[in-house]
Amino acid sequence: MAAFPFEINAVDGAARTGVLRTPRGEIRTPAFMPVGTAATVKALTVDQVRAAGADIILGNTYHLMLRPTAERVARLGGLHRFMRWDRPILTDSGGFQVMSLSKIAKVTEEAVSFQSHIDGSRHVLTPERSIEIQADLLGSDIVMQLDECVSWPAEERRAAEAMRLSARWGKRSKAAFGERAGQALFGIQQGSTFEHLRRESAERLVETGFDGYALGGLAVGEGHEAMCEVLDYAPAMLPADRPRYLMGVGKPIDLVEAVARGVDMFDCVLPTRSGRHGQAWTWEGSINLKNARFAEDDTPLDETSDCPASSHYSKAYLHHLVKAEEILGQVLLSWHNIAHFQALTAAMRAAIAEGRFEQFRRDFKARQRTG
Ligand code: GUN
Repeated sequence: MAAFPFEINAVDGAARTGVLRTPRGEIRTPAFMPVGTAATVKALTVDQVRAAGADIILGNTYHLMLRPTAERVARLGGLHRFMRWDRPILTDSGGFQVMSLSKIAKVTEEAVSFQSHIDGSRHVLTPERSIEIQADLLGSDIVMQLDECVSWPAEERRAAEAMRLSARWGKRSKAAFGERAGQALFGIQQGSTFEHLRRESAERLVETGFDGYALGGLAVGEGHEAMCEVLDYAPAMLPADRPRYLMGVGKPIDLVEAVARGVDMFDCVLPTRSGRHGQAWTWEGSINLKNARFAEDDTPLDETSDCPASSHYSKAYLHHLVKAEEILGQVLLSWHNIAHFQALTAAMRAAIAEGRFEQFRRDFKARQRTG
């Protein structure tokens, strides 16, 4: 019995729209999860994140175990209470962040050991410890298994080794997680860009049995086309009746192409990170507000949006804030970008429900230009 009911309300080609029901609220799919790495979606209050349309946010085991520590968050009532977000939270398991952020990382059959990027202190993360941190101490709603993600390009032997280790860690994660009411555990498919490794990975994960299945090891440098080639076959290897989550993706065009291939959930730092650097994502593509052509542009980023950051302020004002390095510029652009990504997933949900996703996809691509 899966932890959370997943109702698929409409299917259009390979695209699906539905609802994942959790005790802390519904997650409408396709869903985009804003990243709240260190118990904050950077620059935004939780009320702004919710008002932008987010049903769920993501937190990171790696960052929170180092600072303020998972035990401290637990003493303060868990991650939801700590950050005052009472809706679902998905936490990543830590392995991926160890590889990209920590100083020295060593992977063995037992665990990944590493030195903190903050103070150099030594830590060990086993699949069991990652589950304990996520499920027991942080109190996450959707818990991810510990996995090993190889960089790209990867030799086939390396990719196979990491995929099989991830499968064994998935089994250990499941045993440590056990049966829990009100929390879900997702497995992570690996296998780089090798179709037979992706298949073997999916088969091993399904044998273990998870509440949902993630596609890991993508958006690691292979590029949009190569990622789409993997998505041509990989999502279909995962159970159709469970949510499929593409980790760390991506640009709006990546989301549209992944949804067209059967993906239901996404997370990415892109809207908040690029917002802090003056970039805005719009229906016409991305623009950089630093550009002098916006100095006297009195139009808003999106007059059709009900997000104040998108519709209330002019590009000229945002240009000024970014040029003057005012904090409000970072806040408004992060808020706008999160609202835009939510508007994009909402538009995809509506298009799938109405059986016009292909038309939506064509129109979306035709409108996008990069400025
Ligand atoms: N975030 C982006 N890609 C990955 C991945 O492959 N594994 C995990 N755990 N997190 C990710």
